[in-house]
Amino acid sequence: MKYPRPMIAAAVLLTAVPLGAFANEQANPEAEKATMLRSQEAIKDYATTLKAALQTAMKAGGPMAAIPVCHTEAPKIAKEISAKYGLEIHRTSLKPRATPPTAWEKVVLEQFAAEKAAGKPISELVWHTVVEEQGKPSLRLMKAIPTDEVCLTCHGTEVQPAVLEKIRSLYPKDEAIGYQKGDIRGAFSVTAAIHP
Ligand code: HEC
Repeated sequence: MKYPRPMIAAAVLLTAVPLGAFANEQANPEAEKATMLRSQEAIKDYATTLKAALQTAMKAGGPMAAIPVCHTEAPKIAKEISAKYGLEIHRTSLKPRATPPTAWEKVVLEQFAAEKAAGKPISELVWHTVVEEQGKPSLRLMKAIPTDEVCLTCHGTEVQPAVLEKIRSLYPKDEAIGYQKGDIRGAFSVTAAIHP
């Protein structure tokens, strides 16, 4: 039997949030707020650092030089930001190049797509929840990433053959092309333990 998508989405979201009572009774609202602020700060920091690295590489050697930078620097910067803020941050997408979504990330990305289709601006597509992980409350936060003009060089509909070849050699299963300006390219995803 085939369930309609929204029902599946609702079911997965509910199973991902076993915490209702736990969160209210045990998670300290102050600690949760502090974790939220720390996570939002980490997203801002990652976004800014990535954009700067991309711009520098593009200016220095065009897309052919910038691809290896994205390939090695993006995961490295994610690790550094994760360590700096004491959480786990990465990017993911429904059409991934490097990082396919987990089950719950996919549900959220699909929810973002539906909200955008209904007219919500990408800048407002943010989602969070508190779950229990290994007996402790943990914040999950996602924020959508828009596709700008500069992204089209490597994610657009008319990627230069040499650029595409380079991308395909590094990511044989790449799905992250065919985007247009204003599309949702993916999202930042943070998981952060809430320390009481
Ligand atoms: C020079 C080529 C290039 C440009 C320009 C570029 N990207 Fe990427 N992008 C990549 C590569 C390569 C990866 C894979 C990085 C990795 O291995 O973690 C990637 C991965 C991503 C991911 C991670 C999700 C996934 O698909 O695995 C997101 C989100 C993303 N890019 C968004 C953007 C946005 C937004 C822009 C414009 C601001 C942009 N990219 C511009 C090459 C590029």
